[in-house]
Amino acid sequence: MRAICCQAYGPPELLVFTDVPAPAPAPDEVIIQVKACGVNFPDLLIIQNKYQFKPPLPFSPGGEVAGIVTAAGKEVKLLHPGDRVVALCGWGGFAEKVAVKASRVFPISESLDFVEAASTLYTYGTSYHALKDRATLKAGETLLVLGAAGGVGLAAVELGKLMGAAVIAAASSDSKLAICKAKGADHGINYSTSDLRTEIKEITKDKGVDIVFDPVGGSLAEPALRSLAWRGRYLVVGFASGVIPSFPANLPLLKGAAIVGVFWGSFSEREPAINAKNLNQLVEWIEQDKIKQHIHKVYPLKQAAQALKDLQNRLVVGKAVVQI
Ligand SMILES: NC(=O)c1ccc[n+]([C@@H]2O[C@H](COP(=O)([O-])OP(=O)(O)OC[C@H]3O[C@@H](n4cnc5c(N)ncnc54)[C@H](OP(=O)(O)O)[C@@H]3O)[C@@H](O)[C@H]2O)c1
Repeated sequence: MRAICCQAYGPPELLVFTDVPAPAPAPDEVIIQVKACGVNFPDLLIIQNKYQFKPPLPFSPGGEVAGIVTAAGKEVKLLHPGDRVVALCGWGGFAEKVAVKASRVFPISESLDFVEAASTLYTYGTSYHALKDRATLKAGETLLVLGAAGGVGLAAVELGKLMGAAVIAAASSDSKLAICKAKGADHGINYSTSDLRTEIKEITKDKGVDIVFDPVGGSLAEPALRSLAWRGRYLVVGFASGVIPSFPANLPLLKGAAIVGVFWGSFSEREPAINAKNLNQLVEWIEQDKIKQHIHKVYPLKQAAQALKDLQNRLVVGKAVVQI
């Protein structure tokens, strides 16, 4: 089968489009004929050997697929050849077929197209878990989203609005902020041209924000933490800037605030029942047209490396998707 292959750790330029043997299912796995694969920041980290999961070389990146089940291992009871599904495979999705544990595969309805389905779980799953389970966001609170036009950022903007928050989107360009506003953001801050703290003070009339959603880290983190209101929650989601921030411990003390970690991948394995409930809620909202992924661009399989390069160069707004 055709696949994008990581044969040596490094940047997207090292990925190879090649033929590899098709997978066979282990007893607890299904084989999925991949129709679409979402492009996520962890794909960039995994090919550079910088992610929590370290598959042995050679492997295909691509952690989130939508497609059709073609075969099922003998222990699999609830999935059958022909089922339309989405799956969290971790890696292996930039290929014509992938083997996935049945517990990580979820059926989808006929009405959900594969490109949309493959671009939904990671971002909305992460952002909903962050806002609902980790920040316990309440209607009427103020939410600041950094990197707000990125994958998890734009999902946080949309979900924050749906959950009743006043949303401040912060991003590096006015064109990115325009898309955040179209998704419901009440305010936009361009952190390339203006000072984050000053803008937040002005927008919140010195009160500060109740929740910071931070998938970027680096130099934005401390000003964002300093902008929390009393009893605020700072969500540590990721470090797209490449820099893991450190904080003076007096900052949360002074605000009675909490710095809260978010790790959706681990949560989905350790707390599958709550995760399944969250995913069902998200699917309901998608089917009711209450949330809709912003698709930046659909790339053919052989251009998957270009999709990762575009993500690395901060060119992707919402989600890039590889179609097979
Ligand atoms: N904790 C979890 O469970 C979880 C789950 C999924 C993802 N994540 C993490 O969340 C982060 C964002 O993921 P994503 O899929 O939303 O990525 P993304 O679509 O690439 O968005 C990241 C955003 O970060 C900003 N950014 C600032 N400096 C950057 C740099 N040097 N390189 C790239 N982007 C930069 C960009 O916005 P501007 O140009 O507007 O600054 C970009 O839109 C990643 O670190 C990822 O690993 C965590």
